[in-house]
Amino acid sequence: MTHPPRAALPPDALLLELMRGYRQSFALYTVVRLGIADLLAEEPLSAAALASAAGCHARSLARLLRALASSGVFSETAPGVFAHSPLSRHLRRDHPQTRVPSIEFLGAPYTLQSWAALGHGIQTGRSAFEHAHGMGKWQYNQLHPEDGATFDQVMAGARPARIAALVRRYDFARSSLVVDVGGGRGQLLGAVLGRHPALTGVLYDLPAVVSDAPALLAAAGVAARCKVEAGSFFERVPQGDTYLLSDILHDWPDEQCLAILRACRAAVSPGGRVLVVEHLLVPGATSPQVAWLDLQMLVEFGEGRQRSSDELSELFEATGFRLAETIRGDVDIVVAEPC
Ligand SMILES: C[S@@+](CC[C@H](N)C(=O)[O-])C[C@H]1O[C@@H](n2cnc3c(N)ncnc32)[C@H](O)[C@@H]1O
Repeated sequence: MTHPPRAALPPDALLLELMRGYRQSFALYTVVRLGIADLLAEEPLSAAALASAAGCHARSLARLLRALASSGVFSETAPGVFAHSPLSRHLRRDHPQTRVPSIEFLGAPYTLQSWAALGHGIQTGRSAFEHAHGMGKWQYNQLHPEDGATFDQVMAGARPARIAALVRRYDFARSSLVVDVGGGRGQLLGAVLGRHPALTGVLYDLPAVVSDAPALLAAAGVAARCKVEAGSFFERVPQGDTYLLSDILHDWPDEQCLAILRACRAAVSPGGRVLVVEHLLVPGATSPQVAWLDLQMLVEFGEGRQRSSDELSELFEATGFRLAETIRGDVDIVVAEPC
């Protein structure tokens, strides 16, 4: 059965499609948790065979796969028989651009509970996540190591645009010691050091997050040039001449951003710099991707948000930096220098 393209739907039907989006989120999450895409190789398989391998109810699995196939995820080659489609291949854990960690994060019940509290966020300006879970996201991740590890995996993978932005568009010629503040498991820093053999680095993040980083940095072939330090950027950051803040400031209200930038200002070598790597908000011309990301920041962090370059500039000026350069792209880089 073919379906009319979304844009061709009349407004009321389009609205209903939008309203039903959560059904697809839950269906994707469920099929990923069952590992169905991993069980399916090149040959089509019946839902009964897949259900027996996955340990679930055959007729119900057929209904789930039929619904997903109607949206282009898997294809139903004969009644009750399913094959991969281009979309479903990205649901395999071994696909180079696997979406499994993102789906396990975005479709997880705890994430959806936060979104269900969006109204609280809009009423109060406070984090819907905190309202739903009684604690902030980073504390939650520490207390729920499986969810925390999934989030760290999302950050560590499938972010080629961010790596490409930094590796291809920023010239590290004046840098020697790069500190990745809140750098997760070090995927970004590993790529930067891999591209610039003269650089050394320090990966800095919370203890539970950096514990897996040495293996990743070793796999990137840069472990000998990269220290790993655990700590909080509200207390201190390691000394260096180039600071990466990649998707850090958007997690925090202004007051905490000022504290993070002050810590960088206290530690940065003379002539150094801070690179804020995130999606800039362009007032009046914000892309759908950035508008939705910004709403996600509201859900997760309340006053944490995507900022315009003017807003970042104000934060810099209040902390002894000045905005030196803005490099626009799929992911933006805003360079601040001490003044
Ligand atoms: C949105 S993730 C970005 C990760 C990484 N920079 C990237 O771009 O992939 C935010 C990071 O900030 C870290 N973080 C949160 N609170 C922190 C703190 N107080 N001190 C250091 N890192 C922190 C989290 O553990 C997480 O790795």
